Amino acid sequence: AIALSPFTNEITYLVDGDCAIVTRQGAEIIDFSGKPVKRERQISQATAYVVDKGNHRHFMEKEIYEQPEVISHALSHYVDFASKTVKQADTAIDFAKLSGLAISACGTAYLSGLIGKYWFERYARLPVEIDVASEFRYREIPLVPTQAALFISQSGETADTLAALRYCQQEGLKIGAVVNTRESTMARESDAIFPILAGPEIGVASTKAFTCQLAVLASLAVAARKARGTVTAQQETDLVRHLTEMPRIMSKVLNSIQPQIEALSRDLSRFKDVLYLGRGTSFPLALEGALKLKEISYIHAEGYAAGELKHGPIALIDENMPVIVIAPHDRFFEKTVSNMQEVAARGGRIIFITDEKGAAASKLDTMATITLPNVDELIAPMVFSLPIQLLAYHTAVFMGADVDQPRNLAKSVTVE
Ligand code: AGP
Repeated sequence: AIALSPFTNEITYLVDGDCAIVTRQGAEIIDFSGKPVKRERQISQATAYVVDKGNHRHFMEKEIYEQPEVISHALSHYVDFASKTVKQADTAIDFAKLSGLAISACGTAYLSGLIGKYWFERYARLPVEIDVASEFRYREIPLVPTQAALFISQSGETADTLAALRYCQQEGLKIGAVVNTRESTMARESDAIFPILAGPEIGVASTKAFTCQLAVLASLAVAARKARGTVTAQQETDLVRHLTEMPRIMSKVLNSIQPQIEALSRDLSRFKDVLYLGRGTSFPLALEGALKLKEISYIHAEGYAAGELKHGPIALIDENMPVIVIAPHDRFFEKTVSNMQEVAARGGRIIFITDEKGAAASKLDTMATITLPNVDELIAPMVFSLPIQLLAYHTAVFMGADVDQPRNLAKSVTVE
């Protein structure tokens, strides 16, 4: 729809099997059997965004730095900044009546869903069944209509995620789409749309869409908690205040860590293998950090739950494989520090991403320590996304990789 918006704002979407014969007089639509059919002519919301890099070298860099602004825009759709309360985003899904949630997506969108799982379960006491869509669609998961299904997709066109959505439709679940493209197939096939309002994301490696997905999921988890009557007014105010403070904190981080990250990326680019570790919501973030690094710099990178180190990966540790530890000073901090000691004892080189409290508490010798502000654990995943995005970006730039269009990758995977 964005591509057509310089020419028209009226658009008719075909459904699978349709065929349109377009002439100067207009378009005649027939279905797969050849019978003429009517398809609704809609007014498109898409506008011809002026999409350019501004004063950035790559779209990815621009989109990393856009995050405070677009997250603020996304949040305004889900929370009331003045009263510090959550809004009921879309009444088609009533969180109060749900027995549970199913979440499915691919790639980075899946990882935002994995963080969302921690929030829905912890804050709203909603059990969450989650899987990557390419597995979810074939597992024939026994689901019940008292569950709802959330599908997360920047493009809204990912084939595996669409197939998983259609499986849940057949099982009678209410469908919610957390999407960046309101006119996408996924949005059109859902009962509830939760837009992430990130604006067009051109870089193949997802950055602002990821953190906007997280902001939306965090808001929905608080809204679900409120709908289920398990949050006091003060708790709601506190949680929403943390969300509304996030854009300012992210701006502060972006304006402070770039020089250190750029210097560190030169060291990181010399290695062939990198391990990312995290606990709690920092575990999916470790997976995302590994995905970002591998997909744009082509360095092999793996994310692991820090608690799993002794169950195998510790065999890999030596001075040739940096270990990037994502550890805000939260309730897991001490346990993660002991993992770091195990790495250090075996000659492993540690890049420590923590906050001021964490940096003061840890006496370990590291290859580098990236210190972020102390933030509430609800917004830590969004704030801690910034160093892992910038580290991947600058490493890839230093290696001369095609950052916005990495080899073998497409922005939207519309085939299985
Ligand atoms: C992330 O950096 C990748 N570009 C990729 O994993 C992406 O998140 C995945 O293909 C899902 O795309 P979607 O959000 O458009 O469904």
